[in-house]
This record gives sequence, C-alpha cells and structure tokens, in this order.
Amino acid sequence: MKNFILAATLFALIALDLLSCSTALKEGQTCVADRNCDSGLHCETCVANGNVRPRCTRIQPVSPSSKVKGLPYNRYSWLTTHNAFAMLGQKSATGSVIVSPTNQQDSITSQLKNGVRGLMLDMYDFNNDIWLCHSFGGQCYNYTAFVSVQELVSGNHMSVGEINTAEGIKAQPAVNVLREIQDFLAANPTEIIAIFIEDYVTSPKGLTKVFDAAGLRKYWFPITRMPTNGKDWPTVDDMVEKNQRLVVFTSKASKESSEGIAYEWKYVVENQYGNGGMKAGSCPNRAESSAMNTSSRSLVLVNYFRDVPDVTQSCKDNSAPLLSMLNTCTTASGKRWPNFIAIDFYKRSDGGGAAEAADVVNGHLACGCGNIAYCKANMSFGVCDIPEARVTPAPAALPEGSSFGYSNIKAVQLQWTLGTAFAALLFSF
Ligand SMILES: *[C@@H]1O[C@H](CO)[C@@H](O)[C@H](O)[C@H]1NC(C)=O
Ligand SMILES: *[C@@H]1O[C@H](CO)[C@@H](O)[C@H](O)[C@H]1NC(C)=O
Ligand SMILES: *[C@@H]1O[C@H](CO)[C@@H](O)[C@H](O)[C@H]1NC(C)=O
Repeated sequence: MKNFILAATLFALIALDLLSCSTALKEGQTCVADRNCDSGLHCETCVANGNVRPRCTRIQPVSPSSKVKGLPYNRYSWLTTHNAFAMLGQKSATGSVIVSPTNQQDSITSQLKNGVRGLMLDMYDFNNDIWLCHSFGGQCYNYTAFVSVQELVSGNHMSVGEINTAEGIKAQPAVNVLREIQDFLAANPTEIIAIFIEDYVTSPKGLTKVFDAAGLRKYWFPITRMPTNGKDWPTVDDMVEKNQRLVVFTSKASKESSEGIAYEWKYVVENQYGNGGMKAGSCPNRAESSAMNTSSRSLVLVNYFRDVPDVTQSCKDNSAPLLSMLNTCTTASGKRWPNFIAIDFYKRSDGGGAAEAADVVNGHLACGCGNIAYCKANMSFGVCDIPEARVTPAPAALPEGSSFGYSNIKAVQLQWTLGTAFAALLFSF
C-alpha cells in the first residue's frame, strides 16, 4: 500500500511537472510526446549520442526567404531530403511486402510543411508508368530488396523491430508524390521547390508526361533562365512573380535537349554521396559533378548520408558532424556555402540538427551572419543582430542561436524532481 501511494505520488509529480510546462516546451526540454513541444520541434532521444532523455528537438528551419527577402535563389540554403519518398512504415502500393532501407520518417506533404524545399527522387519505368523506386541495376521490381535483412541486422544498421515497422517501403507511381508537390505549390504561392531526379526513365517523354499528369507544368522554371556562367540566379521574388517555382534537375544529360529538363551538373556542383562523403575534413565531388570549386556552377549541393540509411545513427550524423561537413564543403567549394543540404531522416538530431544547420548556412548566405536569426531587414551584409541572451554564457559545445543553453534550467529542475521521486520510491522498498 505504501508503495502504491509512493508510486501514485511519483506519477502525479511527473504529470504535474509536464503539465506545468503545458504544451510549449522549448528546444532541449524534457518531453513525452511531440505535442508537448513548441511548433517546429518534436520529442525524441538520440541514443547514438548518449542522449536518453526524450527532449524537444528542432525539425523546422527558419524560412530564409521570409526572413531576408528578395535575394537570388542561390543566396539561400534549402533543406533537402534524400530518397524523399522512401518513408518508414509506408504501406506497399502493390500489396507486396518488401525489405528495403527507408530514408525518411514522414510523407512528402509533411516534409514540405516542415520546411523541406529540396527532394531527391529516384524515377524508373515500371508497369507502363513512371514509378518512384529504391532499386538497383536501373530497374524497379515488385520486391526491391536493396540489402537483405541479415545484412541490415548484422551490420547493426537497423534492429529487427525497426525492420518490422519499415515493412511497407515500396515503389509507387511517381504521380502520387508529384501531386503532393503540386498541392503544396498551389496552397503556398510564395514557396519554391527543387527536385533532383536520379533518372532511370528511358520511355520517350516519360518524365514530361508524369510531370504534366501531376499538374506541375505551370510551375516549371525554364532552363533558359538557369545561369551556366556562375552568375546569380533570378531572385526568389522574380520566380514567385512569374510562378516559376519548381526547379527540376535530372541526372541524364540527354533530357535537356529532348525534354527541356536541366542536366543537374551543368548548374550544380555536388559532393560525394554515401559513406565516401562522410569522411571528416574532406569534401570530394561526386563523379558526375565538376570539382566543388568550379565557379561556373552557381549552386552547391552537399550530401551527408550513409550508403545504408541508419535511423539510429542519423540523429548523430545530422548534428555536429553535419555542421562540420558543411564547413568543410564550403571551403572546398571556394568559400561558397551550400544551397542544398541533403540528408536522411531529416527530423532526427540531438538538438538543432539539420534545421539548425540550414539556419546557420542561411545566415552566412543571406546576411553574412552566423545564423539566419541574426539577419535583419535592410542591414548591410555582415552586420548582425545578435540578441544579448544568446551571446552571454552559451556553453562552448552548443551552436550559437540554440535555445538549448537557457532552456536547460527547466530541464534540470524536472530531472531533480524526478530524481527525488525515484529515490523516495526506491527507499520505500
Ligand atoms: C508486380 O506488381 C504489379 C502490380 O500489382 C502486377 O501487375 C505484376 O504482376 C507484379 N509482377 C510480379 C513479377 O509479381
Ligand atoms: C579547385 O580545387 C582543386 C582540388 O579539387 C585544386 O587543385 C584547384 O587548385 C582549385 N582551384 C581553384 C581555382 O581554387
Ligand atoms: C527595407 O527597405 C525597403 C526598400 O528600401 C523598404 O520598403 C522597407 O520598408 C524596409 N524595411 C524595413 C524593416 O526597414
């Protein structure tokens, strides 16, 4: 009975503590569910980094073009999801159950809502249509097993439980996802989206047909307006005004002349993807791209994700190591900050993650400051508006602009309360 009372007291204390923070917990504060956290945050641990306390972590970058308006498209950085459609726990479109690594945790619609503005999609001819698929050998199968279950488990990439919840990842008709993009562009008339197609489509005008079917033609940004001499892109205002808000790149050079779809590496430099692009301190270009410092390409894309997607490690990857690689690639690119930050499991981090990384890069690109939060309308480049509270004693390990520092106080109080309650419970036995 005594134990029961103590246990009840403990739970009451926990409940009170969580209620007292109500629904608007800040970054770094202890949470039990996503709904406890402020908007733009979600609740998670990062066990790979030793963070076992569930805390509110950032998933949403600041919209850079609403903070600093009217710059050329290449003066912003856009959060980009790799294999944007390969969603954890997705149901199969053909009813086939498949084991294939997943790369993201939510739908394209949800990604776009959270500020993702670059989507990497693999497109194939399949079942007399164009499908999104995660496959090998340039062909899509009903069962596209990228790696076997054994490889995933023995390589410690995913637990059996994670594989079970990921059962449904499957190819699906591309038009479904493109329609989600169409819906978003229609509902958000000032937003711009870039699509990077890993293109395995050989059917004549296959891509043209599927983009037309999805109603995306009217948003098309024409290749004739894409600079190839290293000059600035048109401004975002201009792109919005002309409603040219969809920027599409293909990996197939021939599609430029046959279908008017931009061959990515005429306009973009891109570093090595996969494990080869995750070696600290180096940022080599991928084979198809010219050298990172090629100044005739106005856009820079940085990949930072593993050969085999790893939901467990992704929170670590997307934190300090990502920021560090963005710095390395900036140097390798001739002091150009990346315009696209392409990652797996974009929501996962041990705090600010990819959203914060995008804010940092946008600060440098848009106003010459360490974070987009320090940019202010009409201030000259390099003049920064850094709030007092952020400058004073931020712990060295924390990136500037993180609210982590001062939100810790509340978290410490909570831990103290919980610790005391647990101790009381233990002593009662
Ligand atoms: C693959 O799935 C499609 C669509 O459900 C079906 O028509 C086709 O027969 C399947 N192919 C094989 C080889 O199972
Ligand atoms: C560009 O980078 C390469 C190494 O990838 C280097 O050899 C070359 O000197 C650089 N060019 C310029 C103009 O910085
Ligand atoms: C910035 O400058 C523009 C044009 O000069 C002006 O219209 C706008 O009101 C200014 N904004 C602020 C916040 O001062």
